[in-house]
Amino acid sequence: MSQPAITGSGVFTPAEVITNDELVAAFNAYADRWNESHADAIAAGEVEAKPHSSSEFIVQASGIEQRYVLDKSGVLDPDRMYPSLPPRPDDAPSIMAEMGVDAARQALAQAGRSADEVDLVICAASNHERPYPAVAIEIQQILGAGGFAFDMNVACSSATFGIQAAADMIRGGSARRALVISPEICSGHLEWRDRDCHFIFGDVATAVLIEPAEDAKGARFDIVSSRCATQYSNNIRNNHGFLRPVHDQMEDRRDMRFMQNGRKVFKEVLPLVSAHIAGHMGDEGWQAGDLKRLWLHQANKAMNDFIGKKVLGRDPEAGEQPNILQDYANTSSAGSIIAFAQNSDDLAPGDRGVICSFGAGYSVGSVLVQRA
Ligand code: COA
Repeated sequence: MSQPAITGSGVFTPAEVITNDELVAAFNAYADRWNESHADAIAAGEVEAKPHSSSEFIVQASGIEQRYVLDKSGVLDPDRMYPSLPPRPDDAPSIMAEMGVDAARQALAQAGRSADEVDLVICAASNHERPYPAVAIEIQQILGAGGFAFDMNVACSSATFGIQAAADMIRGGSARRALVISPEICSGHLEWRDRDCHFIFGDVATAVLIEPAEDAKGARFDIVSSRCATQYSNNIRNNHGFLRPVHDQMEDRRDMRFMQNGRKVFKEVLPLVSAHIAGHMGDEGWQAGDLKRLWLHQANKAMNDFIGKKVLGRDPEAGEQPNILQDYANTSSAGSIIAFAQNSDDLAPGDRGVICSFGAGYSVGSVLVQRA
């Protein structure tokens, strides 16, 4: 059996940024207009006025300071409040494929590999631009990769579940070299008109190249072990699906975009993730003191602080548990991979770390890696 290793990683970052202040100004303008147009109903007590959002709340509750998006103008237009991404003809690359290809090429370049040496492409993301043909197959074709490709979705845990699938296939011999690509257009599923969550998400794409350790041309992270777990919960949910027209539900309903019970998620996911990482490390004979780095899912700073402290048994030191959410916000499955891609070069041979994602499902995936 081959020892799978991560030999390259890449991040595609959209060109446009929305700061908290810009976001809040647009939301408040939208809320004022909505309140004005519903003034009679509000006065009659039939509906509640929409309260303002605030940058202070956002930073304090989440740690998020800004987010990258594919289209800023649509999101910040108080009369629109969602991105404007015109549909593309069938013979043009889809948006997710374009983002994913950019990240994939960076991962390939870092590993010193060309796309024709890849025989597995997994597009692992929370939302897919269409049901079929798979975005992964389109990426495979644009890159000029061989073998086979498929899409998978485990929400925020898609990338780590994808890494486990690819690593297992390399161990088992059904694939030699795999790209796990996570293009996340979170701006498309976020409800920008809901102040409880309008600050949460951003857009990005990440990619990792996984190949047998003996093939690595440069520095690598051996995938020592991976573990995935799921437990059903409705606390993070999106009801948008292909049966909408069949159900006669084409109206702009709130539950067709991202919904969460944030407080419950916070309370329920923290113990799940902390126990998951501790159990996984314990079974592999890893001690907290062995860990040089934690690359965690990037949803909320307080959540990461809590998990870091639980796993390490003390407050993480600067750099031990890098957060990128202040710059990127929550980018769903891509978050832990951005943290890994941007904060792993400095590790020395023998250094150990954990990549961990968690989110809707619930789902949690941990990947124990060792620099070689
Ligand atoms: N501006 C100002 N006030 C706001 C606000 C905003 N944008 N959004 C909510 N508030 C208010 C609420 O209405 C509430 O007021 P109340 O106390 O009068 O009812 C108060 O601030 C606290 O809101 P709450 O939603 O309870 O805040 P919180 O501290 O739980 O933080 C989250 C909210 C979403 C940041 C937090 O719950 C979280 O991160 N949960 C986990 C999220 C997660 O990981 N999701 C996974 C997604 S993949």
